[in-house]
Amino acid sequence: MTEQQSIHGVWTKRWTFILAATGSAVGLGNIWKFPYMTGENGGGAFVLIYLLFIAGIGIPVMLAEILLGRRGRASPINSMHKLADEARSTPFWGGIGWLGALAGLFILSFYSVVAGWAVFYVYLMASGTFTGQSAEMISGEFGNLVSDPGRLVDWHTLFMAITVAVVANGIHKGLEMAVQLLMPLLFIMLLVLLGYSATQESFSQSLAFMFRVDFSRLSETAILSALGHSFFTLSLGMGAIMAYGAYMSRQQNLASTVVTIGLLDTLVALVAGTVIFTIVFGNGLEPGAGPSLMFQTLPIAFSQLPGGVVLGTIFFVLVTAAAWSSAISLAEPAVAWAVETLGMNRGVAALIVGVLAWFLGVACALSLNIWSDVTLFNNNIFDFFDKLTTNIMLPLGGLLICLFVGWVMDRAIVRGEVDIDHPTIYRVWFFLVRFVSPVGVAVVMFNKLMG
Ligand code: TRP
Repeated sequence: MTEQQSIHGVWTKRWTFILAATGSAVGLGNIWKFPYMTGENGGGAFVLIYLLFIAGIGIPVMLAEILLGRRGRASPINSMHKLADEARSTPFWGGIGWLGALAGLFILSFYSVVAGWAVFYVYLMASGTFTGQSAEMISGEFGNLVSDPGRLVDWHTLFMAITVAVVANGIHKGLEMAVQLLMPLLFIMLLVLLGYSATQESFSQSLAFMFRVDFSRLSETAILSALGHSFFTLSLGMGAIMAYGAYMSRQQNLASTVVTIGLLDTLVALVAGTVIFTIVFGNGLEPGAGPSLMFQTLPIAFSQLPGGVVLGTIFFVLVTAAAWSSAISLAEPAVAWAVETLGMNRGVAALIVGVLAWFLGVACALSLNIWSDVTLFNNNIFDFFDKLTTNIMLPLGGLLICLFVGWVMDRAIVRGEVDIDHPTIYRVWFFLVRFVSPVGVAVVMFNKLMG
């Protein structure tokens, strides 16, 4: 088959897909969300289930999602239409793309608010606000931010603007350099923090919390959260990875790529969690504090490290960059579709998606203070968008992707696209995609919805 190309371009270097996909995967989900979910769900048992979902569902689904993109060579919506057509199946499979574009918009809204907090912490760190403060004062600072609608909206706006700016310029500029330079720096900073944690007395308590498995602490909600988060953290189920797959060259080996991304992503989350719980236990903080956790703990570590003002500033810049390379991928499916199908200019499309997500984000920001009594299905607006996407839309998208790749697509095409040379590994993957992942997702979601 002659190689088809996406109209949005192809990654210029061999490494770029890995970098871009890792940039998408590694983000607030790893550093902010994973630790606080682990804290809320009681530690070790949640971590174990999460790791099982990553290995047994997340990584196989990632391979399936990339292959759809690479075969379709278009935005997720149009790729799915093409592939459904190729398989002589119903155009309703395009729904995977629509569901994903909508999920991306919803996630981008609250994601940008949280990324705005990270930007604000760059400022707090750089201005030396925390110097000489007690742990209590440092962790109290977060409350001041969240209760101030104006500040929340300002920093959210700034973050959304830098996201739109890059998406508007296409995938090549900005992203490639940022990911190649900033991601490795983020890993290094996390290792510095890990080194600091290892010198603290509470380090062993943190390890015990994260890795000692006590199933009596595991609720059904925790299982669904672990499943949802395994999709969230790997950027699966909404077409982000599919959109990036469309720009991937055929020479690249899919299997080793997805395993690399999965390992890197998991490593970042585990290190971030270990660091954060060391600080939690060392300072008598609450593991189940929720979304504030990272912002209340890490500045304490920096206030105790030599050169903490500089290191802390750099760290939050890198967190912002990681959030930004993830946010780009949230917008990409919708933008790519508008460019292809509506013939819209890329800049205009990026602006429209950004403005829509900005409005929803403002609602999320206000739901943390002046609109805190507005509820949707018993959640404030922020939590509603978070749970709707993480626990329902992403797993549902993943389920449909598995059904399509496992049951609808021509087997020979799937075999040809997935260049796993080893027949047994291929069979294991196909089995996971056909049976294990869809059944797993269906059982967890169904149980929870019924329960
Ligand atoms: N994976 C990113 C993180 O962990 C967030 C993200 C980017 C995402 N693109 C996505 C989540 C697509 C779900 C779907 O921060």
